[in-house]
Amino acid sequence: MHEQEIDWVALKARATELMERAYAPYSQYPVGVAGLVDDGRVVGGCNVENAGYGVTLCAECGMISELIATGGGRLVAVSCVNGSGATIMPCGRCRQLIWEHGGAECLLETPRGVLPMDQVLPQAFGPEDLEA
Ligand code: THU
Repeated sequence: MHEQEIDWVALKARATELMERAYAPYSQYPVGVAGLVDDGRVVGGCNVENAGYGVTLCAECGMISELIATGGGRLVAVSCVNGSGATIMPCGRCRQLIWEHGGAECLLETPRGVLPMDQVLPQAFGPEDLEA
């Protein structure tokens, strides 16, 4: 899908709605994310923290879980926001999660504009490395 065909405003609005449901009592840093799937579905998630801080689930974990639980497919566009409604970068681990299900061409809304995943996770390790 081409960047211009993606409704980035709607995608970010969905991410913002989900951010409002975050469970982030420890960091007070709610995050929401929404992803457009190649069949038109929109999946998403919010961060879910835990008293065992390291057990925290990033918002992207929920999004990927919904993606797979609702039938899979490829992510074509992703938008991630914080509690101020600002676009944020997924953490390194979550870029890897997005890579697995969206690959190099998946578009990510970033504070520097829309970028393909291979620009925000260069030389990524991926499924094809296991086949080599
Ligand atoms: N967080 C996410 O949900 N996704 C990211 O990509 C960055 C960080 C959450 C984890 C934690 O609950 C809070 O933001 C502060 O790190």
